[in-house]
Amino acid sequence: MALLETDGLTKSFGGLVAVDDVDLAIEEGESISVIGPNGAGKSTLINLVTRMLDASEGDISFKGDSILHDEPHEVVQKGVSRSFQTASIFPELSVEENAQIAALAAEHGSFKLNFLRHRNNYGEVDRLARRTLDAVGLLGQRDVAAEDLPYGDKRRLELGIALASEPDLLLMDEPTAGMSPEETADTVKLVEQVKEELDLTILLVEHDMEVVFNVSDRIVVLNRGSVIAEGSPEEVQGDPDVQEAYLGGVEG
Ligand SMILES: Nc1ncnc2c1ncn2[C@@H]1O[C@H](COP(=O)(O)OP(=O)(O)OP(=O)(O)O)[C@@H](O)[C@H]1O
Ligand SMILES: [Mg+2]
Repeated sequence: MALLETDGLTKSFGGLVAVDDVDLAIEEGESISVIGPNGAGKSTLINLVTRMLDASEGDISFKGDSILHDEPHEVVQKGVSRSFQTASIFPELSVEENAQIAALAAEHGSFKLNFLRHRNNYGEVDRLARRTLDAVGLLGQRDVAAEDLPYGDKRRLELGIALASEPDLLLMDEPTAGMSPEETADTVKLVEQVKEELDLTILLVEHDMEVVFNVSDRIVVLNRGSVIAEGSPEEVQGDPDVQEAYLGGVEG
């Protein structure tokens, strides 16, 4: 059984079919990258899987059960997490508090619930927060205010926040966008390291082909919402349909 499976997954925005009949199966422990020209539907695919968007047709299952009608926080609780979203850090709180809040939110779903009622779970929240900070190498800076961290450490904290819910599947949408080559290399190293340490399955959307080739076991190529090629980095690179899609589109 695949960890994540989409079956005929389709999303239309009015007349535009952004994701068109996509069948995808990600096995546990695998790292797959979704690539494709601008507007191919990559971010929409991630938004469907994380339940930020409702599908128009098809199904999504995680660990064998449909998540098609789940709330976003329910998907997080089942083990799907998304990283490198700019708004995930509370700048004025410490590194450790940021990780604790992420762990607490994953456990209780949302802040609408009363924090204090769950006081007896603080031990577990602490444990998760520390484990996460350890995994991303920030345990030593746990008392620093998040806003005082250097850029690279902020990225580490963003990843840590995503990992505090103990995900099985980590989704990343262009994690190295806007990074220098050094920052990109550091991010790749960090992702590979936490993947090993925490047994993660990874779905990466990325334009930087060097990152894609470094991180992925398998690549899925989307063009105008449809999967046009799938295979190892070598197979995909030599595929004439892929070359044409990139030449015909506007590469970013
Ligand atoms: N909320 C929305 N409403 C209407 N159209 C949308 C919406 N979100 C995305 N689209 C359209 O769906 C198509 C796919 O967009 P998407 O953002 O998924 O592409 P992408 O592959 O992530 O592109 P990029 O590489 O530029 O990030 C595009 O034509 C886009 O304009
Ligand atoms: Mg996108």
